[in-house]
Amino acid sequence: MVDGNAFLGAMDRKAKFLAPAARVTVASNQELASWLLDPLARWAHAAYGEQIFEDAARGYARYCMGVAKAQQVYEQAGKYTPEALPEITSEVYEDEGYMVPYMWAAILIYPFWPSMIHHLALYRDGFVKALAPNAKVVEIAAGHGVMGLMAAEERPDISVEGIDISPPAVAVANRILKASGHAGRVTFRVKNALDIEQEGSRGQYQGIIAAMLAEHLEDPRPLFRAICHLLAEDGIVFFSTAIESAQRDHVYEFNQESEPLKMAEDAGLRVTRLVSDASAPPVGARFLPRATAMILRRR
Ligand SMILES: C[S@@+](CC[C@H](N)C(=O)[O-])C[C@H]1O[C@@H](n2cnc3c(N)ncnc32)[C@H](O)[C@@H]1O
Repeated sequence: MVDGNAFLGAMDRKAKFLAPAARVTVASNQELASWLLDPLARWAHAAYGEQIFEDAARGYARYCMGVAKAQQVYEQAGKYTPEALPEITSEVYEDEGYMVPYMWAAILIYPFWPSMIHHLALYRDGFVKALAPNAKVVEIAAGHGVMGLMAAEERPDISVEGIDISPPAVAVANRILKASGHAGRVTFRVKNALDIEQEGSRGQYQGIIAAMLAEHLEDPRPLFRAICHLLAEDGIVFFSTAIESAQRDHVYEFNQESEPLKMAEDAGLRVTRLVSDASAPPVGARFLPRATAMILRRR
């Protein structure tokens, strides 16, 4: 890794207590971590300047502390206890001060968390590289936009349309997009995932990305139905979600990998690959925080 080391250097300075664990995950997955962090560091620097690495490290530290606190509350309550969705929308998704650091954390957990690094491998090798030639891809809840941008970086033949409910997240995605040089083939705009089915015609996308979104919805079933509607006959989907993993904006609680899998099947999809990895739980914890990722196809 060359340019991506800027993120790790900033972690040593601004997120000292989290840096050693992040370095271990990166060191054990050098090639994959570099695949993401090297271009991301170049784009981030071009878009925001040198300061971005420390801002991202601070955002990551704040996010990890929020996650640890939310998991403690979850352990005590025995279930997710989120605020109502309108409050989450105004205080998280629409709040630039909350959302921008959160978005840097959301991308850095892929190379830094043992429970996320295998998602990245499945995404690159099981989705991006497997897309049909000249595929039209939609990224639902793109957030920072980096997953879609990495697909465009890897595959010069494809195009990506990203949507997200959060205006500050879409602003981050568009700023990184401009620096990435992929603006001709990639777009990001504000839109609710639950409205996407209405504007899209059946089977129009050869690739659909819905990463770490389902747990943010009150009911994920309409998302799976929209995915099935929009997916081309030979298309592929990268889907991922959190399981027993509390967070301020996690609304729908999955307790078993079979739950999202069954929702996908009920919507007319089949799962062709699946990875699921846990974080190390505190001793005596009743919940095991983990994240699962799947490749889906039409049945
Ligand atoms: C954890 S982030 C995931 C971002 C990115 N997909 C990733 O994997 O890093 C969750 C994203 O879902 C977005 N989101 C939540 N509810 C949404 C909805 N109903 N429609 C579209 N986006 C939504 C949030 O704004 C946020 O950007």
